[in-house]
Amino acid sequence: MSGDDPGEPGGSERAAWPTDELESFELELYGEGPERRYRRMRPEVEAMPWDDFDASLYDEDVRIAARSAWTRAAFQEHRTAAATLVSLRALVEARAPVDLIGVATRFPQDELVHVELCARMAGVLGGGTEILHRPQELIRDPVSSLSPLMRAADIVVRLYCVGEAVSIPLLRGAWHAAKHPLPKAILGTIVRDEAAHGTFGFWFLDWALPRLGPGERAELAISAERAIAPIRSLWREIANGAAPQPDSEAHPLGWMRTDTYLETAHAAMQNHVLGPLRARSIPVRWL
Ligand SMILES: [Fe+2]
Ligand SMILES: [Fe+2]
Repeated sequence: MSGDDPGEPGGSERAAWPTDELESFELELYGEGPERRYRRMRPEVEAMPWDDFDASLYDEDVRIAARSAWTRAAFQEHRTAAATLVSLRALVEARAPVDLIGVATRFPQDELVHVELCARMAGVLGGGTEILHRPQELIRDPVSSLSPLMRAADIVVRLYCVGEAVSIPLLRGAWHAAKHPLPKAILGTIVRDEAAHGTFGFWFLDWALPRLGPGERAELAISAERAIAPIRSLWREIANGAAPQPDSEAHPLGWMRTDTYLETAHAAMQNHVLGPLRARSIPVRWL
């Protein structure tokens, strides 16, 4: 047990980090003992058919698009890893049920596995593409003036009830459509893990909602709408900018045609996000 005091002496004298600094999204493995232990915890990563993938079979433009798509997927998983950790802290502070938090402790590790899978897929395609980002802006923290329970509910709704819940049918669609055994195995692992993440948000709500009043439920609807807005504008961009794409083993959208993707996406939003939230008296709107 640690008795560390977070207020360190001399903290205010330290040089401030320039908050507008962009950093390159690059990752590494430590190797040796940490890698061996991690591999034992998650043997599915090394079990993937990495050696069966021959990137030279694909046209240059398809390869570049796929490298970029898998790198963006790795970055998205990296952001989700940070969000799952923020949610864990909020759940602990809210004194959510121990078994519920215990289930969620696996999620950051799942997301790191997804980061590695997507980054390695970009690697076998020829290497990751450049992503510049501000590490301190990876995720939006819950508002500190809220109660511990509402802080937890805010991030759980944004991350699990919207973000994770809407992505599951999309990932499952991509998994169904993937033809090559390597992306199929990668997507299969991610889909399996994400199914538990999507369920978790609604488990949490079923515990938390009896403790919240109508005003707080309305606040949670706003949390959900904040998470839905960027997803919706991304879908609009896809709808406006892209004609239906041919099926391809290395298509950047994850092996679904654009029209199939958008159809699946809208159905996922209705059935896995808006429906379950409204059924719990969270009056979320599709703005
Ligand atoms: Fe993930
Ligand atoms: Fe996830």
